[in-house]
Amino acid sequence: MPPSELARKNRIAIIPGDGIGKEVIPEAVKVLNAAAAAHGHALSITEFDWGADRYLHDHTTLPPGAVENLQNNFDAILLGAMGDPRVPSNIHAAEILLGLRFQLDLYVNARPCYLYDSRLCPLKECTERDVHFVVFRENTEGLYVGMGGFFKKGTPDEIATQEDLNTRKGVERIIRYAFEFARAKKLKRVCMSDKSNALTFGHDLWQRVFKTVRAEYPDIESSHQYIDNLLYQMVRDPSQFDVIVTSNLFGDIASDLGAGLIGGLGLAPSGNIHPGKVSLFEPVHGSAPNIAGKNIANPIGAVLAAGMMCEYLGLAAEAGAIETGVRLALSERKLPAELGGSAGTRQLGDFLARAVEASAS
Ligand code: NAD
Ligand code: IPM
Ligand code: MN
Repeated sequence: MPPSELARKNRIAIIPGDGIGKEVIPEAVKVLNAAAAAHGHALSITEFDWGADRYLHDHTTLPPGAVENLQNNFDAILLGAMGDPRVPSNIHAAEILLGLRFQLDLYVNARPCYLYDSRLCPLKECTERDVHFVVFRENTEGLYVGMGGFFKKGTPDEIATQEDLNTRKGVERIIRYAFEFARAKKLKRVCMSDKSNALTFGHDLWQRVFKTVRAEYPDIESSHQYIDNLLYQMVRDPSQFDVIVTSNLFGDIASDLGAGLIGGLGLAPSGNIHPGKVSLFEPVHGSAPNIAGKNIANPIGAVLAAGMMCEYLGLAAEAGAIETGVRLALSERKLPAELGGSAGTRQLGDFLARAVEASAS
């Protein structure tokens, strides 16, 4: 093996998870392997069975040593989805998915909303150029940290609290990442969204940090929208956005709306990233128990997440081939039920694998 191949980052952990995660991830792996083979690379793939079945079997969520194993022996992680009606507390999802985001310190949740075919957009007269932005969601703080509790639980006097944690370091690094991304990709505009008119402590910090950081990027047009208005503006005129940066919960909500604008939740990919460290890629959607096990889930979001992973690993040719394959499927109307077609999950995976192979020959 040539030295360049040895140095290549190719050690990938696969966590299919629950529900349709178990259907879309095999298709994403199929496409990933086809892309790598077509470009003369080999990937080292290791699958982990973490998810609801394992939890119900032996109460394991994230096994001891899992985080260290991922940090020491892997370059990237591809995950399907976590969530199962048999685990109503969602404890396994919190410990596995949020556990990995927090413990690997994956502070950037990048959620691109790129419209590939105007026919898929629910808005009137929207072109591919109009819906082309990325949501950067803070991924390690906010309302997700699990601080809070119950008092007098189950009684009429019950109290429940949930803390919104915002640190200067955490807010600054995600805002800075958004500006750096805009600069690197030659994008003109960054919009920060918060709710500082009501959340006068935590989001006041967002306001002040944004003001400081934006001053370092005079080449980029920076703006602010309150989250309620942001969601309205995303529907009214999505063309006004290149980069959106926001808090953990608001980014979760805004990215599902963004997925609606590009045609469906099943199309949307994401990357949970800490630059230079092992990072985790996944579709934006969840385990969709309502359609699981029927071979109708759209695998494209998972496939595009694998593409984002390739880009992160420096496998630019593979990333390009995957995107080209997706564009071909959409333009040839090889559509899953979600997008009004009849292509099954596996059929779409097969089509995409063939397309990435063909794009290299
Ligand atoms: P969901 O994303 O699973 O589904 C929302 C809707 O979108 C459903 O109608 C579903 O059928 C549809 N949908 C989602 N992905 C699709 C795909 N690939 N193809 C076709 N249709 C698709 O959200 P939900 O129903 O609110 O949550 C279900 C479970 O998933 C819950 O347990 C939730 O906590 C979990 N969840 C996990 C993640 C994750 O692991 N990252 C993300 C969101 C939700
Ligand atoms: C997502 C999901 C998760 C989140 C859930 C499953 C905890 O909705 O990845 O978007 O809210 O982050
Ligand atoms: Mn979500």
